[in-house]
Amino acid sequence: MKIKPFAVEEWMNRYETQASCNIAETCVDSISLDELLTLCNVERGVFFDKLAARRLTYGDILGAPEYLEGICGLYDKIRPDQLITTHGAAGANHLLFYSLIEPGDRVISATPTYQQLYSIPASFGARVELLELRRENGWLPDPDELRRMTAGGVKMICINNPNNPTGALMGPDLLREIVEIARAAGAWLLCDEVYRGLNQDGGRTESVADLYEKGISVSSMSKVFSMAGIRLGWIAAQDPAVRKACLSHRDYSLISCGMLDEQIAALALANREKLLARNVALVQENLAVLLDWIERDPRFSTVPPKAGTTALIQYHLSQDSVTFCRGLLEQTGALVVPGDCFDRPNSFRLGYGCATLELRQGLSKLSAYADGLCGGTLA
Ligand SMILES: Cc1ncc(COP(=O)(O)O)c(C=O)c1O
Repeated sequence: MKIKPFAVEEWMNRYETQASCNIAETCVDSISLDELLTLCNVERGVFFDKLAARRLTYGDILGAPEYLEGICGLYDKIRPDQLITTHGAAGANHLLFYSLIEPGDRVISATPTYQQLYSIPASFGARVELLELRRENGWLPDPDELRRMTAGGVKMICINNPNNPTGALMGPDLLREIVEIARAAGAWLLCDEVYRGLNQDGGRTESVADLYEKGISVSSMSKVFSMAGIRLGWIAAQDPAVRKACLSHRDYSLISCGMLDEQIAALALANREKLLARNVALVQENLAVLLDWIERDPRFSTVPPKAGTTALIQYHLSQDSVTFCRGLLEQTGALVVPGDCFDRPNSFRLGYGCATLELRQGLSKLSAYADGLCGGTLA
């Protein structure tokens, strides 16, 4: 099966280990187990003794009950028997397309976004059409355009809320309008919600799994909960057909998720308010630092993100984005992702979920690099 190279992941795979200052990462500052245990007031010995005593079986094939309960706490309507556990949101998105999409199906994906949401269905033979998100619309989808695109039938609409790379956030009214468009078309509405819970105003956006009977929410422990290392994600959907198809396909590719990982996730989810307080405070502080820098350096501009951990930053300098990002890394050690990985030239994606000091250093390096380019001339 042919598939387009995954531009962002290839970039990160190639350059991440070379960076001394990583402001390309999308997770909120990854947490250690020691930090988690302290945050949750759990004694180290008690937790590890319990884990160490467990026989390393496949565990609960459908997910440890305490892990499933923890995930349900993130939704209004979702029950444990409406969840499918996966290896990260990456595993969840892949499993969904593998389970629900047939060759020839029409799929609409809003872009820019995480490339899985259009390249995987295309690789399964779907006819994928892109709903372009535009900077002048604050990177939000135009519902009228989506409505027009659904004429003639569509099997699935894919959105990402909050959005990677732009940090745009669809509020309740727009989300409901999109649900209505999907409902009128009888389409599945897949929403990649891995950044849900990181709103700058401290709130949490609604999930399509709560709003729509054919809504499918994908999320994970990686970003909002700072635990990419346990590789756990999930699919949540009210319609039993989703779980039936996904579990049937999952038997061939996953069997179960790691039983030790699920215990760590369960602990984090049981203490989610503490973890979220840590992480929301960090992204709020860091976005203020980022926007302050943008205001002071006219060679860069952005639509201020409303949520998540990423911003798509336009630079007003005459260098293509791959050359710009490579030059930045080579000369300063700072890593960002070229906008061309998202088909958005003259821009780069910056991740501001890292430690504040690292962000500040990265921004100084960006300004210094721009100074060195053609004497820092504006394009
Ligand atoms: C929108 C989006 N979906 C899915 C993923 C994959 O995340 P996970 O670590 O949960 O597999 C990412 C990672 O960058 C992402 O940004």
